[in-house]
Amino acid sequence: MNLKDKIAEYPNFPKKGILFRDFSPILKDPSALSEIADEFSKYFHTKDIDVFAGIESRGFILACILASRYNKGMMMIRKAGKLPGKTIKLAYTVEYGKDTIEIQKDIIEKEQRVLICDDLLATGGTAKASAKLIEKVGGKIAGFAFIIELTELNGIKGISKYNCKSLVKY
Ligand code: PRP
Ligand code: ADE
Repeated sequence: MNLKDKIAEYPNFPKKGILFRDFSPILKDPSALSEIADEFSKYFHTKDIDVFAGIESRGFILACILASRYNKGMMMIRKAGKLPGKTIKLAYTVEYGKDTIEIQKDIIEKEQRVLICDDLLATGGTAKASAKLIEKVGGKIAGFAFIIELTELNGIKGISKYNCKSLVKY
C-alpha cells in the first residue's frame, strides 16, 4: 500500500499559506493502521524501548498503536494545564503558532528509554521540546517515530542526534 495515498491535503488550514496534511484516512483504514505498526517494527527493536510517549493530540494515537504492537506502555506529553500532580512545562513554536507542553515529573523511572511518537514533523519545535522534557524528568530518548515528515521545514535538524524514522516524506 502507498501510505501517501491515505494522507489528505487541505490548503490554507489552519492559517493562510499552510498546507495541512491530514492522516485521518490512515486511521479509517485497518490495513493502513497495521502497515504503520509493521513499518515501525521493522525499524525500532523492542529491546531498545521501555515505553512510548505520545504528543497531544495526534501523537497519542500513534503512541497507543505502537505501544500495543510492542506490548509496552505509553505516557502522555500534554498541552499545558491538563495534567495533575507535579509537572514541568516548556514553550515552543510550531509551523503555524506557539504552544506549551507539559509532562508529569514522576512519570518516568530513571533512565527509562522513551520512543516519542507524533503524526507529523514540521519545524521540529514540538519534537525538540518533547525530548527536552523527557530528559529533564530523567528519561532517555530511544528515538522518534513520525508518520509524516515535511522535509523542506528541516525539523529533523533539531533532533538529528536521535534515532528518527518517518514513513512518508514530502
Ligand atoms: C501538530 C503535529 C505536531 C506538530 C508539528 O500538532 O501533530 O505535533 O504540529 O509541528 P512542528 O514540527 O512545527 O512543531 P498541533 O500542535 O497542531 O496539535 P494537534 O496534534 O492537537 O492537532
Ligand atoms: N503540524 C505542523 N504543520 C502541519 C501541517 N502542515 N499539516 C498537519 N499538521 C501540521
